[in-house]
Amino acid sequence: MANSPHGGILKDLYIRDEPLKATLQAEAETLPHVVLTERQLCDLELILNGGFSPLQGFHTQAEYTSVVTTSRLPSGALWTIPIYLDINRAHLDTLGAVPGSRLTLRDPRDDQPLAIITISDIYTVDRTQEALQVYGTTDEAHPAVHYLRHNTRDTLVGGDVQAVNAPQHYDYVAIRRSPNEVRQLFKKLNWTRVVAFQTRNPMHRAHRELTVRAARMRHANVLIQPVVGLTKPGDIDHFTRVRVYQAIMPKYPNGMAQLSLLPLAMRMGGPREAVWHAIIRKNFGATHFIVGRDHAGPGSNSQGVDFYGPYEAQDLVLKYRDELDIEVVPFQMLTYLPDTDEYQPINEVAEGVKTLNISGTELRRRLKTGAPIPEWFSYPEVVRILREANPPRDHQGFTVFLTGLHASGKESIARALQVALNQEGGRSVSLLLGETIRQELSSELGYTKRERDINVARIGFVAAELTRSGAACIAAPIAPYNEARQQVRKQVARAGGFYLVHVATPLEACIKNDRAGVYARAIAGDIKGFTGIDDVYEAPSNADLVADVTKTSISQIVHEIILLLERDGYIGDR
Ligand code: ADX
Ligand code: MG
Repeated sequence: MANSPHGGILKDLYIRDEPLKATLQAEAETLPHVVLTERQLCDLELILNGGFSPLQGFHTQAEYTSVVTTSRLPSGALWTIPIYLDINRAHLDTLGAVPGSRLTLRDPRDDQPLAIITISDIYTVDRTQEALQVYGTTDEAHPAVHYLRHNTRDTLVGGDVQAVNAPQHYDYVAIRRSPNEVRQLFKKLNWTRVVAFQTRNPMHRAHRELTVRAARMRHANVLIQPVVGLTKPGDIDHFTRVRVYQAIMPKYPNGMAQLSLLPLAMRMGGPREAVWHAIIRKNFGATHFIVGRDHAGPGSNSQGVDFYGPYEAQDLVLKYRDELDIEVVPFQMLTYLPDTDEYQPINEVAEGVKTLNISGTELRRRLKTGAPIPEWFSYPEVVRILREANPPRDHQGFTVFLTGLHASGKESIARALQVALNQEGGRSVSLLLGETIRQELSSELGYTKRERDINVARIGFVAAELTRSGAACIAAPIAPYNEARQQVRKQVARAGGFYLVHVATPLEACIKNDRAGVYARAIAGDIKGFTGIDDVYEAPSNADLVADVTKTSISQIVHEIILLLERDGYIGDR
């Protein structure tokens, strides 16, 4: 292999000449700009730091066509995933962008100028051709095809970029390393043979065994280089995963492995993506790269069939082995052998030997239900982190939303429920009474439909935040409109449990209960737009519970709510 981590500095695009840098920064402020998408931001960071070397900008049309149809740049160099700057034609026109002009590219998170592109050409994306050639399908069940159809803008802007500022990160800053920083690390550690491991999932024992096995076979050290840019929609968030990686590092023999994060936007492109990953790892100075089972696999298509075979990625990488300049270490599926308590590639397991496996789906099920996860599968330190991120129902938050007429008994139920939940313990309990919210959050609002909707939306926002943080939230506004209640349900349900209780006490009873005499004033016409008198109350059709304080005692209503919460696992066996 020609490549070596001692190959020294990789050409990145950052400018070290301070006066030149200052000139570019000043120019960036004067140019028309585009705010990058999250994917473009990831791509740009790797263009700037050399991770995407030999790219020095976003693809021109010649590069795009060449990469899409031949997996090569016009120079002949292998490059399998197209990297472009997609912008809407209409937006480009307002910027007056034409070939030869310059645009500032800004960070979507903080608006900082990151680079200036000198436009060499402007052309149209070919969604169908790209989907078919790069990903082998036009089925939108493929995340990259879905992205092409729904996110990719119609017009592509090609041209080299000049660095203005490096994207600023605030998480795990110490272990986000550029190619040159990784190369320097290898040099400092005296590592000459390094096998890189790509991952977008939590690591378990199989992955530790896989990497140690590769190290042993190739007499190499290990670079664990997980993706913290964009991965497959629905994946575990990168914060949780990095905590897992940090917990697994002490499981390596001292000095064997290092952890470093990669701000890559994955496409889940299977074979073509595996080749791309290998090129990127070569740029980071690794000498070897692991490609195992179903590398960068997008899952199954809309017919339920996997888009790619389990070893298709491996096969393509091996096909290009002679020009990759990084040695691929292929692995078949690593499987657990309970009789000998070890992991082995499935192709090395003798016939008749018992094997065990826990699939990703099964793991997610066990995390959700709290079912045990055996030590042969993962480390207790890892499982603890995953369980923290997937708390069982009895550690999740919920909102009980009571809706009904003024003086229908909502408040009494809410207060009694608060006491019952405080008695249960384990969660902080928040009470959002209609009157309190009107005073504390909505004092400027009146009682038009629009103002009522705004008031209920504010309650929904607060309830969702409390629910997300694990609290029990009891809200008791009148909330007369169905649509507004639906919005609250949608918002809160994303964060935890949501229960709509319709307090359906008949109007006559409400009037009787109303010792302050507000109804009397509404009936006399002294108060206008009063719900139940001269303003509407839309009775919910989808309440989880309907209660009427003239028929059922407060204690019994609270008990009915407790039974709902218990049924769904929010309270009970703590
Ligand atoms: S990927 O999308 O980044 O490929 P993942 O984190 O699941 O996702 O896999 C990381 C790497 O480990 C890939 O090279 C994959 O092929 C390999 N791999 C994961 N699990 C196994 C296994 N049980 N056996 C062999 N290889 C595996
Ligand atoms: Mg996988």
